[in-house]
Amino acid sequence: MSRAPGALRSWEGRPVEEWARRWGVPGVEAYDELPSTNDRLRALAMAGAPHFTVVTADSQTAGKGRGGKRWASPAGKGLWMSFLVRGDPHVPPTLVPILVGLAAIRTLERVCPSLRPGIKWPNDIEVEGKKMGGILCEGTGAGTVVVGVGLNLSQGIEDFDPGFKERAVSMEMAGCRDVSRARVAGELLSAARSLVNPPPALLDELLRQEVLDHDTLFGRTVRTEVGVVGTARGIAADGALLVEVDGRVEEIRAGGVMAVESGQSARVESRQHRKEGEGHMNRRGGA
Ligand code: BTN
Repeated sequence: MSRAPGALRSWEGRPVEEWARRWGVPGVEAYDELPSTNDRLRALAMAGAPHFTVVTADSQTAGKGRGGKRWASPAGKGLWMSFLVRGDPHVPPTLVPILVGLAAIRTLERVCPSLRPGIKWPNDIEVEGKKMGGILCEGTGAGTVVVGVGLNLSQGIEDFDPGFKERAVSMEMAGCRDVSRARVAGELLSAARSLVNPPPALLDELLRQEVLDHDTLFGRTVRTEVGVVGTARGIAADGALLVEVDGRVEEIRAGGVMAVESGQSARVESRQHRKEGEGHMNRRGGA
């Protein structure tokens, strides 16, 4: 297959074909710089690229976040990667983002066991209330989803945009040492393959429990983008956020959500305490 203009022959010291083999994916495109890996993958998807085609870039000049926000993607400081999910068109659109969020959580826990990452619905990855990563899923029709994952690996506080400094964190800032971008990418794709290959129609009880165990909003007062204010009560089997308002539970499927008061969910806290009690083996950190 011919290489696209600007696509690199090798990434992190090895040929891209070797990464594709190691990761069990049909193809990897790597770039020094792209406007957005999601946009490049969307073009590939339109041209018929197969399920789990991967695009990654060292930096993005027009990285996209949810809700039309910009996603800062400085060179070499994070994992900026997109992969393609071709699933059943009937899979609820709320499900893939949650499952990829779970894949990111599993990745962080494996690469840096001292971390206690959580998911803030729909798909922020948080550590101690600060954002370590985000996921942007863009449907391209007929069950095809471009999944973009941004994970902050080695930024220092000075690398974040003013206004975001208070709310952002990288793995290195959170105490993970010698984080390898290739390892994070490999773990992420392997976790994603086990969760969305293909995406299930609904979360089974085990997965739903795993999501709930990492739900940073549970029990907190939240305000949704559509103006619902209530208490977060977990995630439904189709990935919707459950919010209790005046004794009635509403299912939120669109937009973002804000916690009205600070702190984190009792659920994530109790999981933290449980893990801390598991002994120092788990607390050393480092990648
Ligand atoms: C968010 O939290 O708002 C989602 C951020 C998603 C960022 C990633 S980086 C790789 C991919 N390419 C993009 O342009 N955005 C996603």
